Amino acid sequence: METVIFRRIVLMVMMTSMMVNMAKSELHYVGGNKFSWAPNVNLTQWSMHQHFYVHDWLYFGYDRHMQNVLEVNKTSYENCIDKDFIKNITKGGGKDVIELKEVKTYYFLSSCGFCWNGLKIAINVENAAPSSSPGHNKSSSCTIGINQNLVILLILMWGIIIFK
Ligand SMILES: *[C@@H]1O[C@H](CO)[C@@H](O)[C@H](O)[C@H]1NC(C)=O
Ligand SMILES: *[C@@H]1O[C@H](CO)[C@@H](O)[C@H](O)[C@H]1NC(C)=O
Ligand SMILES: *[C@@H]1O[C@H](CO)[C@@H](O)[C@H](O)[C@H]1NC(C)=O
Ligand SMILES: *[C@@H]1O[C@H](CO)[C@@H](O)[C@H](O)[C@H]1NC(C)=O
Repeated sequence: METVIFRRIVLMVMMTSMMVNMAKSELHYVGGNKFSWAPNVNLTQWSMHQHFYVHDWLYFGYDRHMQNVLEVNKTSYENCIDKDFIKNITKGGGKDVIELKEVKTYYFLSSCGFCWNGLKIAINVENAAPSSSPGHNKSSSCTIGINQNLVILLILMWGIIIFK
């Protein structure tokens, strides 16, 4: 009986930490809103104020009859070359998402000439910031840490009560 409860607790902790990790990843609406993978948006301006971490997601919202989303390399990005792209992100609905899985700079552009009008973006993905680096100004990460522990504790208690 004891071991059953113990196993359930372990499982619960694992699931909870997974949930917390998922909650930490952020969804970025490229350009600032759900319809801003568009020619009249200053994407450089937008990305200047963003931080992208591994496991964050990008959302490209646009007119599916006009634009598309292709991942390309640096050279192609700089020269607006839409041939021999790395990955076609376009799904056809004008609402595409992609997970930023690696620490690197991702390059995206829209073909059909829109790249020449500035419809391209370089996304510099960083490693997730360590939550408690010494000497670091961490007023905001403190709150997150406390909240996460609280959530884990609450779910743990809930699990013990349910399965007892
Ligand atoms: C976009 O914003 C950046 C940074 O504010 C600025 O340097 C650039 O000239 C803008 N581009 C256009 C096309 O307005
Ligand atoms: C980028 O991709 C193009 C097209 O596939 C290729 O010709 C070029 O060598 C690549 N550049 C780099 C730096 O990988
Ligand atoms: C990308 O994929 C979409 C959906 O499969 C397709 O309609 C589109 O033609 C593709 N674009 C390119 C440039 O291959
Ligand atoms: C936190 O960072 C801000 C801006 O970088 C700075 O002005 C402030 O003094 C820092 N606070 C502490 C406690 O280090």
